This record gives sequence, C-alpha cells and structure tokens, in this order.
Amino acid sequence: MTPLLIRNIGLLVTNAPDVPGQLGMVEDAAVSIRDAQIVWAGPEDEIPVALRRSAELDVERRAVIPGFVDSHTHLVFGGDRAEEFSARLGGASYEEILRSGGGIHSTVAATREASVDDLLAQSVSRGHRMLRSGTTTVEIKSGYGLTAADEVRILEVAGRVGEDSGIGVMRTFLGAHVPDRGLTEEDHVDLVIDEMLPAAAPHAEFCDVFVDRGAFSVDSARRVFEAATGYGLVPRLHAEQLTHTGAAALSAEVNAASADHLDRVTVEDAVAMAEAGVVAGMLPGAGFSMRADQAPARMLWDAGVIVALATDCNPGTSYVESMQFVIAVACLEMGLTPDEAVWSATRGGAKSLRRDDLGIIRAGAAADLVILDAPSHRHIPYRPGSDLVWKVVKSGQVVE
Ligand code: NIG
Ligand code: FE
Repeated sequence: MTPLLIRNIGLLVTNAPDVPGQLGMVEDAAVSIRDAQIVWAGPEDEIPVALRRSAELDVERRAVIPGFVDSHTHLVFGGDRAEEFSARLGGASYEEILRSGGGIHSTVAATREASVDDLLAQSVSRGHRMLRSGTTTVEIKSGYGLTAADEVRILEVAGRVGEDSGIGVMRTFLGAHVPDRGLTEEDHVDLVIDEMLPAAAPHAEFCDVFVDRGAFSVDSARRVFEAATGYGLVPRLHAEQLTHTGAAALSAEVNAASADHLDRVTVEDAVAMAEAGVVAGMLPGAGFSMRADQAPARMLWDAGVIVALATDCNPGTSYVESMQFVIAVACLEMGLTPDEAVWSATRGGAKSLRRDDLGIIRAGAAADLVILDAPSHRHIPYRPGSDLVWKVVKSGQVVE
C-alpha cells in the first residue's frame, strides 16, 4: 500500500513518553502511515525525505489523538432495559430488581431468545457508532449467556462485530457474571469451571468475574481464576462496586490485568493494586446512569495506580457508547484533568488490555487515530455532548 501522510496537524497527542498523564504533544505535526502501522510521527518540518511523496491528508490544523481504547463493555446483548431505567429513576433499587429476578437476568433471557442474526445486527450497529465516535478498539465481555453454549455464542458474535464493523475487538469470558436462576453460587461456579471455560476459552483472551453481594465471593472468583489461567486467560474483575468485598486485593494477588468499577475501593487496596501493576478501570458512565457517587479516581491516580477509562456499555447500568462522553464525566464528576482523562481513555485502555501497540502514536504502533474537529483534545470534556470527531483512522484506513 502507498503510505499516507497526515499533515498540517495543529496539535498532535502522541502519548509517546508512555508515562500516565504525559501526552507528548507536538505542535505543527505530521504522521506517516504505511499499511496498518505508524511509520513516523513528529514536527511537520522534520518529515523524512523518503516519506514526503506520499498520498496526503491535510487536516487543516485540527488536533489528532490516538484512537480510544474502550477496555470494558458488555456490548453483545439482546433487548434493552428502558423500563427498568424508568423504574430506577422512580426510586426502585438495582439490587432489589436483580434479587427479584430482573436486571441482569432479564437481559440473559432476552439474549438467549435472540437469534444470532438479531444479536449480530444490534451489536454491529453499536460497534459502528463506537468506531465513528473514535473508539478504535473495544473489549467485549460475554456474561448474558450463563451456559456453555450461550456464552460461546456471545463470544462468537463479539468476534464478528470486529469483522463486520471494522472496530478492533478483544474478548473476555464472563461466565461468572451472576449465578444462573435456580443455581447456587457453588453450583454455578462448578458449571463455569467444568463446562463453560473449556468451551469459551478458545474464543477469549481474558476471564472476568463480578465479585459482589448478589454475584460471586472472593473465594469463588479465586477458583474461577485458577482454572482460567490454566487455559491461558488473563484475569480481570468487576470489583468493589456495590459493596467492599476484597476483590481489589484479589486482583493484586492474581496479577489481574484490571480491576474495574472500584466505587468502594480503599487506600490500602490502591497501594496493593499499584504495586502489582493492576490497572483501575474507571466507568463514569455507570455512576452517572445510576445516579451514584463516582469512584475515587483522583485517589487512585494519586496513589500511583494506572487508570483506564471505559464506557461499561451494557443495557442495565450504563448504556453509554461514547468515550468522548466518558471523558467529560471523568473530568466533571471524578476530578481527572483533561490531559489525564484523554490519556486514560487511550493509553490507559491499552494498558488495561495489555496491548503495547495501542493508544500511542509512534513508529511501529497501530495506525489507529482520531482527527478532532477542534484545536485540542481539551475540547472533549469542555464541550460535553458534542461529537467532536472529524475523521477516524483505523488500521491505516480512513473510516467511511
Ligand atoms: O458492569 N456489574 C455488573 N455488570 C454490569 C451490569 C450488567 C447489567 O446490569 O446488565 C456492570 O455494571
Ligand atoms: Fe461491567
């Protein structure tokens, strides 16, 4: 393929120092891309001679940032929960609804009922909207199947979302989302280990467990992770969301890639996570949609924990697809600075997914970038609710 030179960039965010919050900004910049990779990035007046005769995209002084890496979603699901949302706004509690067999269980029923074609069609349209709003890689969890066959079906659909929409996909097996209706926690964990994991492991890179009251205990999660690591899956967790359970400490113990939510995390947990290199997944769309206090992102950051921002896109607690919106809420309600939030939504997400080639603009990295219709990345939180994406480049191709 002929190389593409993106030039006349007013402000380029590279994340190249690879230090949390340091954006490695370059003014009057250019980026050269060949095939799906970045070959060079830097000041426009230093473009290597050999790259000067490429096809050009003049971005007319706009800002360019790495593509967003959304490291926590439940993108594949059937139905929706708009009625539950209205009920919650009228005072019903999420845990009550779950205990009475609604909530996640109603999405499990709708997902099992949906045909593969239906599931694929709605998931691909969500994937498309994400890609067009700047997300170039998305993590997708199963968890609305809760049987081996249903979990595998979701992971297969998740893989096809990548093929059909063009967004990059990494997959997580979440067979331990909640115990299936009619099963004890222990029986469900046995099913996860004996039936679901062997079937699902070839279709996933990670294994997640929702550790909470009404979901799974720390001991159950430990059992699941022991089995999952035997299949080469890397642990990640839903931790300390509704109650404090010790899940964040477990994330450090099992060297998880990430522990996410963390509404009730303590300073001691944060120290353990920082030492073990566990990334903290902050999901401000969930706190916002649940009208809950936001997780202590500022405390985690200041304790030296690497922070990733993600949408948690799911039909119950955060039907949010836009990383631009997530960045705005992270700044306005969690107290991250615009530079920290943009770093966490790009390079932070890549760290959460253990992908060194994403969320950074330097030679050899994936050619995934977003051209903003704005002079700087700081306009994203400053102008909440506006889609500021001008064009998205995914794997070196301008997304149509
Ligand atoms: O990340 N916490 C558990 N899982 C999802 C919610 C799923 C649902 O309500 O459907 C979450 O918030
Ligand atoms: Fe989640």
